[in-house]
Amino acid sequence: MDGVYEVKKINPSCFDKTTEEILSNLEKTKNSFWNLDRECANFLNTLIKIKNAKNVLEIGTSNGYSGIWILEALKETKGKLTTVEYWEKRQSVARANFSKCVPEVYAESKIGAAVIVLEDMLDEIKQNKREKFDFVFIDANKKEYIEYFELIDKMINKGSVILADNILTHYKKVEDYVNALFDNPSYQSQILPFGAGMMLSYKISD
Ligand SMILES: C[S@@+](CC[C@H](N)C(=O)[O-])C[C@H]1O[C@@H](n2cnc3c(N)ncnc32)[C@H](O)[C@@H]1O
Repeated sequence: MDGVYEVKKINPSCFDKTTEEILSNLEKTKNSFWNLDRECANFLNTLIKIKNAKNVLEIGTSNGYSGIWILEALKETKGKLTTVEYWEKRQSVARANFSKCVPEVYAESKIGAAVIVLEDMLDEIKQNKREKFDFVFIDANKKEYIEYFELIDKMINKGSVILADNILTHYKKVEDYVNALFDNPSYQSQILPFGAGMMLSYKISD
């Protein structure tokens, strides 16, 4: 093969100097906090802009690395983020990172077990106390992806996007999620074989 492209190269940052420094520092500890790699974070950011998403849900906040990339995209789309994490300490580190990096974008931090938090938010949606989401990023307990999906499906409309991480690195744990999406005629899905492997799903009908 001629001229193989070195895929790790990322275009110049969309961030200011302070945010770029914070991101670079977070990248040094990414294995301890299970953060996305920069390539996937850049993809997530670009996808939110392309979708023009206004109401993003993230499941698995950690220290806020991916959240910073989501918020930067939402600055452009004028949207907001809701992010879920069961470790209070991590959620507070994330909140501090969000306010240092992208203070102008609204981020709602939810602390608790994802399934319980999602059930509560679904109740709020049913009572018209909360709007449906239009973009969901799944990156928490791999064995629970299928449970997240069963709830998320009721929390999004046609035209919405679900992106799930660790599809290839944790295939056995997420296999039921992958099958459920591929077998569901309301969704068009594709596994993207970069980073830890992501599954991109588009809701084509309600
Ligand atoms: C892979 S990390 C998220 C990384 C983050 N999205 C990023 O790229 O910066 C997964 C996070 O989900 C949290 N988590 C795992 N299971 C969870 C659950 N059942 N409910 C809520 N949070 C959970 C973990 O504590 C961890 O911080």
